[in-house]
Amino acid sequence: MNDKKELVEWAHQLKDIWNTQGAFIEGQVGQEKTSPFIRSLTQLLDTLEEDYRIEGEYQDKLEHSALEVFKAWNQMIGETRSELGNSPVPIGGHSLPPLPYPYNALEPYISEEIMRLHHDKHHQSYVDGLNKAEKKMQEARRSGDYDLIKHWEREAAFHGAGHYLHSIFWEVMSPEGGGEPDGELLDQIQTDFGSFDKMKEHFSAAANAVEGGGWAILVWSPRSRRLEILQAEKHQNLSQQDQIPLLVLDVWEHAYYLQYKNERKPYIKNWWNTVHWPEVKRRYETARGVQWHPS
Ligand SMILES: [Fe+2]
Repeated sequence: MNDKKELVEWAHQLKDIWNTQGAFIEGQVGQEKTSPFIRSLTQLLDTLEEDYRIEGEYQDKLEHSALEVFKAWNQMIGETRSELGNSPVPIGGHSLPPLPYPYNALEPYISEEIMRLHHDKHHQSYVDGLNKAEKKMQEARRSGDYDLIKHWEREAAFHGAGHYLHSIFWEVMSPEGGGEPDGELLDQIQTDFGSFDKMKEHFSAAANAVEGGGWAILVWSPRSRRLEILQAEKHQNLSQQDQIPLLVLDVWEHAYYLQYKNERKPYIKNWWNTVHWPEVKRRYETARGVQWHPS
């Protein structure tokens, strides 16, 4: 039972994270926020210990337990983030955020194999590259030797954009994804694009037309007070730093090639089934608070 193996691995990863960072997280958000997570994780680990062969009922119970953990984890981590809002990441101290769901959770739309490689290898290398660049630039500031600054600035931009965009990417997808957003985000989409379907069509066309590797990005422009869709080819030098990404889609080949070969269109089409709108909405509502002079 492949799904069960995946869940066991995911549950143990969360348990390991809890063992090393639990005290810190609890210090930030308090016991009332952490106890639903611990309760649901214990319940899931117990359920995983049971060895029922009756597919239907046991499978339902397992899925229910996993979903409870998924919700409790996201709520707790969301709280931790807002508590940590003003704490800076130390120089060279970036870390790979854990996936908020098991590696196979986005199947059939995105395969387990891709998620493993994409998260554990590609994203990790952006984190490592950014940390290295930041430390090298710190060294340069200490020694006053800026001979290689162009190189390290490029590395910092390339790996930094990669780290930040991937961090958003994992969170704007969910096994519970798909459908349409609601509330003010939907109203804004309708105002700026005509309809949700028009936005989706425009975003898909933009993603499909990215030359080589890159991203499609739905942004809120604090200056024009509108949503816009952008492409980021070579994310290190074409990102619009004035914008706040809300929804991002990775169309680098490593994100789909193993499963879709060179067929980017069906990957883009299927990806919509994974979009986690509540997270996009959360980002939108926060971003709306940022305002510059219109020009
Ligand atoms: Fe990627």
